This record gives sequence, structure tokens and C-alpha cells, in this order.
Amino acid sequence: MSAAIELGDITVTWDSPKGAMTVLEGFDLSVEPGSFVAIVGPSGCGKSTILRVLAGLLEPQSGHVEVGGISAIGRPGLCAWMPQHDALLPWRTVEANASLGAEVAGLDKAVARRNAAEILARLGIGEVGDRWPSELSGGMRQRVAVARTLLSPAPVLLLDEPFGALDALTRREVQSWLQQVLDSETAPDGQNRTVLLVTHDVEEALLLAERVIVLSNAPARIVADLHVDFPFPRANSLVADKRFVELRLEVLQALGIE
Ligand SMILES: Nc1ncnc2c1ncn2[C@@H]1O[C@H](COP(=O)(O)OP(=O)(O)O)[C@@H](O)[C@H]1O
Ligand SMILES: [Mg+2]
Repeated sequence: MSAAIELGDITVTWDSPKGAMTVLEGFDLSVEPGSFVAIVGPSGCGKSTILRVLAGLLEPQSGHVEVGGISAIGRPGLCAWMPQHDALLPWRTVEANASLGAEVAGLDKAVARRNAAEILARLGIGEVGDRWPSELSGGMRQRVAVARTLLSPAPVLLLDEPFGALDALTRREVQSWLQQVLDSETAPDGQNRTVLLVTHDVEEALLLAERVIVLSNAPARIVADLHVDFPFPRANSLVADKRFVELRLEVLQALGIE
């Protein structure tokens, strides 16, 4: 089976006042269809850059990028991308923001709005559908952005620190909602969606993902690539499990924190 995501020999450099800065150099990554992969790494190492390359929004200086076997270079729209800053449209209501990806993809507007209302309710913010983004807290806005990304029909989801603005309790709730929504989906080909999640939170990575990739400082190299084989659904108490604690330590060591 071909990979859902394939990055090969990617180079991205930026011009800065101090000269050219290389963020990615010969970077390779291959992700299997239907898997949930988390990426953790130091701030500024190139995580958001990787997602923007996959989203078709940033052309690398060299290398190849494929999503479902199709080149994503100069071709946005193969993935549903949730940027690090929520990017809600201020002139659309919350519900209209949530349904945007589905509407752009051509889904009937009434159906898209109904789906949006349903998922907003599942995310605990069903009552704010007809409000404006500016009336919402940061955590609520972030949930709307998660809803919008989930409602896009793309087979690959790119989530860039999607829960950063949530308090710890809401964060855990939204994490398990995300897991449930992904589990309850039945794609036409019987395949789950592929998810690439960027996070600072090592526990979040280990609770949600089947594979955790740890990156070095820029230019980002993969310094650890761990298989996380706990079954789903995963309970909160997993964080106290001996194997979980070992994996957590392994990630922290790869990050150079422990
Ligand atoms: N548009 C840009 N112009 C110049 N430098 C950029 C731009 N976008 C990102 N960078 C630089 O590239 C590096 C990696 O950025 P990014 O991928 O956002 O890191 P991360 O998401 O891992 O924190 C950072 O040093 C950042 O300053
Ligand atoms: Mg980032």
C-alpha cells in the first residue's frame, strides 16, 4: 500500500538578517494510511514548516511531497490543515466557520451546516453556533477550528498544536472527543483518516498517537521514532502505566530535557 504522506529529501531555507537559515535539509518522512502520528520537537525546529509543505502552501527548495500518491507541491487542498493560530473568519458565524471546509469541498450547504452544529455540540460548544468568533474565548475558538478541520472531507488531517489554548481539563476532554470522532468515522474505503499532530505536550502525543516522532533543533532531523502500541480508547489513567512512563522518558531524553 502506498504511503498517505511521503516527504523525500526536503530542503527549506529562509533568508534572515543573519544569512540563510536552513530549517529542513534532506528531510524524509513516510506515514502509513490511517495512522495517527504525533510530532514533537523544540520550538522553531520546523514542525509548522513541515505541515505547511504538506498543505501545499510552501514550496520546498528541493525534494518531493506526496499526499495519497499525488504531488502536493503548489497544490493546496489535499490535506485538511489546522494552522497554529486558529484563523477563523470574523465575518462568518461560528457554525459557518465550522462548516467552511466542507462547503468549500462542495458539500451541500444545509448538510454542511447540520454536520457543523452536531460536531460543535460534541465539542461542548453547541450553544455558540450563531455567535461571532470575536465573542469567543481562545479555547472556544480553537474548538471551532478543530471542528472545521474534522468536517473537511480530506483523508489527511494536519493539526498544528490544536489544543494549546485549552485548559488542562478541557484539553483532555477535547482529545478524547477527537479520538471518538475519528474512531466513529467510516470512510468509503473503510480506512480511517491519517492524522499528523504537532504538539508540545509529550503526554498528549503518547495518549493520542500510534507513532511519536521527535525532532532535533533546526535543521530538523528525526532523533526518535517510537511505536506507541496501547489499545484505543485510552484512559486518562494510562499516564501512570509503567510502559507509558518509560515512553515519556524516552521522548524527553530524545528532546534533551531529561
Ligand atoms: N515566513 C518565514 N520567513 C522567515 N523565517 C521563517 C518563516 N517561517 C518560519 N521561519 C523560521 O523557520 C524556523 C522554523 O519555523 P517553524 O516551522 O514555524 O517552527 P516550529 O513550528 O517547529 O516552532 C523558525 O526559525 C522560523 O523563524
Ligand atoms: Mg509551529
